[in-house]
Amino acid sequence: MFSEKLLQALNEQMTFEIYSAYIYKAMAAYFGPLNLKGFANWLDTQTLEELTHGERFYRFINNSGGRAHFLAIDEPKFDYSSALEVFETALGHEQLVTRRINKLSDMALAESNHATRIFLDWFVTEQIEEEASVSDIVSKLKIIDSDASGTLLLDQELSQRVFAPPAPGELG
Ligand code: FEO
Repeated sequence: MFSEKLLQALNEQMTFEIYSAYIYKAMAAYFGPLNLKGFANWLDTQTLEELTHGERFYRFINNSGGRAHFLAIDEPKFDYSSALEVFETALGHEQLVTRRINKLSDMALAESNHATRIFLDWFVTEQIEEEASVSDIVSKLKIIDSDASGTLLLDQELSQRVFAPPAPGELG
């Protein structure tokens, strides 16, 4: 079902999605000692979403004649100086994910592996939302510019985010 090259690339992206969860959890931890529970909640929720992204790849690979291979992941960044730095880093990360998904989709198309290309369409669409939601927070943080009441208001807004588990059967 998969060429060796495509299987390797799918396993790398599955691992990268799990790595994304690791990065976001480390970002959530930054806000713990600052007592900004809304920021931490948003990032905790993002962590859970990334794990479901990894699970989509895992199930697709294993259900399509391949075998999921979990690769090594790096230690996530620990030192941040501000909420803005955290979310600018998150935005850069999501832009990288988008480039990776597009490249993977190009590879599937070049191999005429249409099942994989169609599987990846969900991620192509998802990345529009991923980038937009982080970009929105970056814009607000720039307006707030370390004003305490603005930061607390945004913290309150981000505390509203709730993880929506995929519907039964949605992950494949
Ligand atoms: Fe799964 Fe945020 O990319």
